[in-house]
Amino acid sequence: MFFRKKDSDRAPEAASLPGAAAMPGDGKVSVSLTVNGTPVTASIDPRTLLVQFIRENQRLTGTHVGCDTSQCGACVVHLDGRAVKSCTVLAASVDGGTVTTIEGLAKDGKLHPMQEAFREHHGLQCGYCTPGMIMSAIDIVNRKGTSLDEATVRHELEGNICRCTGYHNIVAAVRAGAANMSGTRQAAE
Ligand code: FES
Ligand code: FES
Repeated sequence: MFFRKKDSDRAPEAASLPGAAAMPGDGKVSVSLTVNGTPVTASIDPRTLLVQFIRENQRLTGTHVGCDTSQCGACVVHLDGRAVKSCTVLAASVDGGTVTTIEGLAKDGKLHPMQEAFREHHGLQCGYCTPGMIMSAIDIVNRKGTSLDEATVRHELEGNICRCTGYHNIVAAVRAGAANMSGTRQAAE
């Protein structure tokens, strides 16, 4: 059975995307972002998702794709300081933005306090969900503070799915990581 897509489901025309500049002739758009502190510019198909831009254009494969339907959270990155599911964002629509991925957290060879807490508390098994978990966890701390109770962590992590751990150690890791981030949040982001 075929379903005709609504007009609103169609990929946006290059010229209609905010910010991005259409390249004459080839249907591509020029997009400039700051990724993990480095300014990057690329000519891309206007339908390119932010997660594709990160993984395929920038070759930063720590950001994962688990569902493509905005449910699993494996693709979470920070965009202008807030957590977003990068499978739901068109790269061209965030032209000029600042992106932080899991690769951008460690500084001078030292893990971010939240990464360290996941390691210490064994907050992972296969690790597929882990980059998204950590990026979401840091966002939770940025919004809710460094003293997090279990109920808050479980509620705030509803958008991140783990198929391995049963969440117990993840919750413990997030709470410990939050406590560890006291006084280091500015330096970390
Ligand atoms: Fe983005 Fe699952 S890949 S939410
Ligand atoms: Fe395997 Fe979470 S550790 S999906």
